Amino acid sequence: MSSQILVPESAPFTPEQRAWLNDFFAKNDLGGASPAADSGPVIPVTILWGSQTGNAEGCAKKLVKAMKAGNFDPQVIDMGQYDKAQLAKEQNLLIITSTYGDGEPPDNAADLHEYIMGDSVPSLAGVNFSVFALGDTEYPDYCQCGIEFDTRLEKFGAKRIFKRIDCDVDYHEEFKEWKTGVMDGLGGSGAAVVEEATQEEIPYGKKRPFPSPILNSFDLNKAGSLRETFHIELGLEGSGLEYETGDALGVLSHNPEGAVDEILKNLPFNVKDDVPLPGGGEAPLREALITSYDIRNLNKTLVQKWQSRSGSPFLRAMVEGAVKEDFEEFCWGRELIDLITEHPADFADGEEFVGILKKLQPRLYSIASSPNAHPGEVHLTVAIVRYNSHDRNRGGVCSTFLSDRVEENVPGVFVHNNKAFRLPSDLSKDVIMVGPGTGVAPFRAFLEERKATEASGRNWLFFGNPHAATDFIYEEEITQMQKEGVLNNLSLAFSRDQAEKVYVQDLMLESGKEFWDWLDGGGHFYVCGDASRMAKDVDKALHTIAMEHGGLSEEDAIAYFKELKKEKRYARDVY
Ligand SMILES: Cc1cc2nc3c(=O)[nH]c(=O)nc-3n(C[C@H](O)[C@H](O)[C@H](O)COP(=O)(O)OP(=O)(O)OC[C@H]3O[C@@H](n4cnc5c(N)ncnc54)[C@H](O)[C@@H]3O)c2cc1C
Ligand SMILES: NC(=O)c1ccc[n+]([C@@H]2O[C@H](COP(=O)([O-])OP(=O)(O)OC[C@H]3O[C@@H](n4cnc5c(N)ncnc54)[C@H](OP(=O)(O)O)[C@@H]3O)[C@@H](O)[C@H]2O)c1
Ligand SMILES: Cc1cc2nc3c(=O)[nH]c(=O)nc-3n(C[C@H](O)[C@H](O)[C@H](O)COP(=O)(O)O)c2cc1C
Repeated sequence: MSSQILVPESAPFTPEQRAWLNDFFAKNDLGGASPAADSGPVIPVTILWGSQTGNAEGCAKKLVKAMKAGNFDPQVIDMGQYDKAQLAKEQNLLIITSTYGDGEPPDNAADLHEYIMGDSVPSLAGVNFSVFALGDTEYPDYCQCGIEFDTRLEKFGAKRIFKRIDCDVDYHEEFKEWKTGVMDGLGGSGAAVVEEATQEEIPYGKKRPFPSPILNSFDLNKAGSLRETFHIELGLEGSGLEYETGDALGVLSHNPEGAVDEILKNLPFNVKDDVPLPGGGEAPLREALITSYDIRNLNKTLVQKWQSRSGSPFLRAMVEGAVKEDFEEFCWGRELIDLITEHPADFADGEEFVGILKKLQPRLYSIASSPNAHPGEVHLTVAIVRYNSHDRNRGGVCSTFLSDRVEENVPGVFVHNNKAFRLPSDLSKDVIMVGPGTGVAPFRAFLEERKATEASGRNWLFFGNPHAATDFIYEEEITQMQKEGVLNNLSLAFSRDQAEKVYVQDLMLESGKEFWDWLDGGGHFYVCGDASRMAKDVDKALHTIAMEHGGLSEEDAIAYFKELKKEKRYARDVY
C-alpha cells in the first residue's frame, strides 16, 4: 500500500519548510506507512461492530484500513452476522459499539449482547480484547452497551490489552487514541498515514456540510392541528452528494439569535473578546454561541461544571445525591439560560465560559424522497419542536431553524448512510411499512422508489397521527399511490378520532392473519418513528401475531424475529 504523506497545515513549519518536506516525502515514496509496516509476524484480529446509524461501522472500517497497512490481518464483522461459537476461539478481539434506546445495544448487536450478558458464555481465557464505546453524554446510560461488553469479556477471563474508551458524539480524537493504543497493545503497528487536506479539498460531507438552499417548505398539518410537521425540499445541485432511499440527512443549523442575546445579557463578564471555536479559530462570543456551541441541552458533565462555579447547594445535591430520575426530570425542559438565571456562576471571561459547553451538533432526519423521483433534491418531514416550560416558550434548535429561520440562513447538510434500512433488492418481495407521525418519512421515499423501479412485490403502509381531518400528512400522495396500484394496503390509525386511542399496532393485530401471510411469505418489515414507546409496542405486536397466526411459542417467536433481523427483513429507523 502506498499513499503520500502530506505535512498538515497545523504542523509547526513555515510554508517553505512544509513544501520541502512534502517534496521529500513524495520523492522518497515513504508510502504513508510506518517503518514497521511490513515487518514482524502477522497478527490476526477480529473486529466486531455494533452500529445503528453507521458511526461505529465507520470506525471499524477505518481501523481495518490502518491495520492492513501494518502487520495485522484484520477481519471486520457485523455483530449481527457473527457466529458466537467463535468467541472463545478468538485470539484478538476488538469491539466497537454504540448505545441506543435507553442504554440498549444497537439492533445488530442485540443478539451478541444478550449472549454475553447470559450464563452460557464459556471461558474466554485465551482472548485478548479491547472495547471502543460510542455514545452521547446527553443520555443517562452513557455508553452502556460498550461498558457491558467490556465488563463481561473481562468477567469471562478475556485479557484487556488496552483500556476501554467511552466517547461522546465528537469521537474522532478518542478514536485515534484507541486505534493507536490497541495496535500497540497487540504488539504490532499500523500505518501512520498523515492525511490533511485544506477545507476546500474536502468533499462535501459530515466534515464539510453542503450549504443547501431550501427550494420549498410548508406545514403538512392543516389549520386547527396541535402539531406542526414541515415538508422541506432542499437542493443538492453542485454538491456531489448522493443518497439512497433509506438514508438520513444530517442538518447543521444555528441557535436562535434571540436566545443567544438573552444569554449574553445575563453573563457576568465582558463579552467583547473573541473566543475559541470548537473546530479551531476564533470568533466574537455572540457569533460563536449562534453558530458553534450547544446552548440547549443540559447533561451531567455540564451541570457538574456549572455547580463548581456557582456553588449552588441545590445543584450540588442534584449532581451528587439525586437519583437518576430526579436528575433527568431537572434537565427536562431546562436549558443553559435556566442555569444562568437560576444558579448564577462565575466565569473570568468568554473563553472560560465556552470551555464548559459542547459543540453544536447536527441533527439527523430520515430522507423522505427517492433520488430517482427527485434528482438533485432531498426532501424531509420535520416535526417542529415547541413547548412552554418553566414559564418560557422554547423551541428545538434545528426544527425551528428549518421552519422559522431559513430566510436569512442556509442549513449545512450531509448524507448519513443507513445501510441497515434498505428496500429488498429482489423487487418481487412484499414490503410492510409502519410509520406513524414523522415515521412516514422514509416510506414516502420507499413508495416513490418502488414506483420508479416498477417493483412487482406488494406494499402495505401503516400510518397514524392524532386526527384524520388535520394530521393525515401526505394524504394526496398516499391516496394517489393507492389509485396507481403501488400501495396495495393502507391501514390508518387516527388515535384521537374516537373515545379509545387507536394505534398502528392495534391495526396490525386486527389484520394479523393477512399480516402474517405477507411476512412469513418472505415479506420485509420496516418500522420508523418514536423509539421510546411506539417501536417497542410494534415489536410486541409482531411477536403476538407470530404466536397467534404462526402457531409459534413465545420462545420460537423471539428466535423468529432475531432471524428476520439477521436476514435484514426486519429493519428499524427509530429515534
Ligand atoms: C436516525 C434519526 C432519524 C430522524 N428522523 C427524523 C425525521 O424524519 N423527522 C423528525 O422530525 N425528526 C427526526 N429525527 C429527530 C431529529 O434528529 C431531532 O432530534 C428533532 O428534530 C429535534 O431536534 P431540534 O434541534 O429541533 O430540537 P432540540 O434542540 O434537540 O431539542 C429537543 C429537546 O428539547 C426538549 N424537549 C422537547 N420537547 C419537550 C417538552 N415538551 N417539554 C420539555 N422539553 C422538551 C428535550 O430535551 C429534547 O431532547 C431523527 C433522529 C434520528 C436519530
Ligand atoms: N413532547 C411532545 O409533546 C411531543 C409531541 C409530538 C411529538 N413528539 C416527539 O417528536 C417526535 C416526532 O413526533 P411525531 O410527529 O412523529 O409523532 P408521534 O408523537 O410519534 O405521534 C404519531 C402518532 O403515534 C401515536 N402514538 C403515541 N404513542 C404510541 C404508541 N405507543 N404506539 C403507537 N403509536 C403511538 C400518536 O398518538 P397520540 O399522540 O394520540 O397518543 C400519534 O397518533 C417523536 O420522537 C415524538 O416522541 C413529542
Ligand atoms: C435514539 C437514540 C438513542 C441513543 N441512546 C443512547 C444511550 O442510551 N446512551 C448513549 O451513550 N448514547 C446514546 N445515543 C447516542 C449514540 O450512541 C451515538 O450517537 C453514536 O455515535 C451512534 O453510533 P452509531 O451510528 O454507530 O450507532 C443514542 C442516539 C440516538 C439517536
